Amino acid sequence: MGKDTVARLEARLAANRRGGGEDRIERQHAQGKLTARERVELFLDEGSFEEMDALVEHRCTDFGMEKNRVPGDGVVCGHGRVDGRPVFVFAQDFTVFGGSLSETNAAKICKIMDLAMKVGAPVVGLNDSGGARIQEGVASLAGYADIFLRNTLASGVVPQVSAIMGPCAGGAVYSPAITDFVFMVEGTSYMFVTGPDVIRTVTHEEVTKEKLGGAMTHNSVSGVAHFLAASDAECLARIRRLLSYIPSNNAGKPPVVPTEDPLDREIPGLDEMVPDDPNKPYDIRKVIRAAADDGELLEVHEHFARNIVVGFVRLGGHSVGVVANQPSHLAGTLDINSSTKGARFVRFCDAFNIPLWIVEDVPGFLPGTAQEWGGIIRNGAKLLYALAEATVPKVTVITRKAYGGAYCVMGSKHIRTDINLAFPTAEIAVMGPQGAVNVLYRREIAAAEDPEAERARLVALYQEKFANPFVAAERGYIDEVIQPRLLRRKLISSFAMLETKRDTMPPKKHGNIPL
Ligand code: HXC
Repeated sequence: MGKDTVARLEARLAANRRGGGEDRIERQHAQGKLTARERVELFLDEGSFEEMDALVEHRCTDFGMEKNRVPGDGVVCGHGRVDGRPVFVFAQDFTVFGGSLSETNAAKICKIMDLAMKVGAPVVGLNDSGGARIQEGVASLAGYADIFLRNTLASGVVPQVSAIMGPCAGGAVYSPAITDFVFMVEGTSYMFVTGPDVIRTVTHEEVTKEKLGGAMTHNSVSGVAHFLAASDAECLARIRRLLSYIPSNNAGKPPVVPTEDPLDREIPGLDEMVPDDPNKPYDIRKVIRAAADDGELLEVHEHFARNIVVGFVRLGGHSVGVVANQPSHLAGTLDINSSTKGARFVRFCDAFNIPLWIVEDVPGFLPGTAQEWGGIIRNGAKLLYALAEATVPKVTVITRKAYGGAYCVMGSKHIRTDINLAFPTAEIAVMGPQGAVNVLYRREIAAAEDPEAERARLVALYQEKFANPFVAAERGYIDEVIQPRLLRRKLISSFAMLETKRDTMPPKKHGNIPL
């Protein structure tokens, strides 16, 4: 090999590593952001990154672009390993044309997505981009559409994770929206279809970019983002942790992580954790953590629709997706946001062979015009549909209330849940005792000598008859009423028994979930 050839290669690779130049790299660092390459190196197992297409350049000749070419063209692409497993990664380089998407850098992203589909490995996108490269016009729009198609085809085949690590606009937000999980970094990342300037012009609204599309806005208000991180480094570490719970593709199983936590560990504290008083709140996450290996729960969508908790735990080393009503927020009622949050998580788990543990303490759907007019019927149906459709092993535990339609939705036996357990404190009924007595005995109570005493007597009668797990257990809708202290042992033995579960959907192109 001639020295000149080696020197030319080295010069190009050096130009690739310089990106948009020292000044722009400094600006990136001054904002508290890492560069695209630093992010990739930090994210993957040390020394495992293999870069692809480092020498690709754009082909645009308008606006003087022919003189402005950077090898790699503003996106670092390739593959490496996370905890030893193959992962494909692309990282947009904001120092090169603001990380904007050109025809050629879209082709680089598509190339690794196609490879990821062939080998069955996750795709992680580290987004830091001003959207479609303006100088390229329709060629960059076509590039985005090529990516959107691949995002869609890969959905449910390989896990797709997006980190938003800078100001992302236009196409740079729609691709992440199709992926399974979106991370955002506090203070440096933004997502919007149209920014504050356009909004001011069109609707005369004044809004900061933080309030419009900052990390907390999308984590807590819109629900577009699932995870919030304080820094680039924390964000990348948390993506690694998420990947540890999920398989590389839809034909595989999640990694098993051996645990020292005894499989038959009893949890005496659980016997007292669920209050006898049906109106007293408690934190369902305490119940989940108490049963999980080493008390660990990776919560997804932690800040959004907090009346439902979704996330990953391990039980006996095996990954399990948890969907749980949260009595400490809105009394654990199901509303529009909690239903869509739960449904999307259930569908992810079902697509990727992750068993589901449903924890139920729900007084019903949230009443009110805001919910009815916002479409609680259509949106609540999403969770019902998703849980009924799921064919992975499903275990439901009713800790306290299971009222009305919400009883049916939250993993009831009737929607092919495999194992249904209940604590002795469970109350399974069409509605709560107060409401039921008011409907059934309004006239009798009004006519009574002491209406309040009569109401209390009837409530006690109703509770005796319905507000317990025994009627459901007599019918076999509950397989076992368990002592709460045995929860971990019962869950582990149920999921172990279900490991070879086979269940399918009737042949169809796809269902029509009420979107
Ligand atoms: C080409 C771009 C660019 C773009 C930024 N740059 N966005 N170049 N195409 N889309 C360049 C800037 O010219 C600048 O170059 C450098 O990147 C850094 O940009 P700044 O504006 O200086 O940075 P900052 O102040 O941090 O603002 C970042 C930003 C802003 C918020 C992203 O640049 C911005 O609003 N960009 C345009 C966003 C947008 O509307 N994109 C098109 C969306 S339409 P120099 O040389 O000065 O360093 C779309 C279609 C897809 O994406 C449709 C999907 C459905």
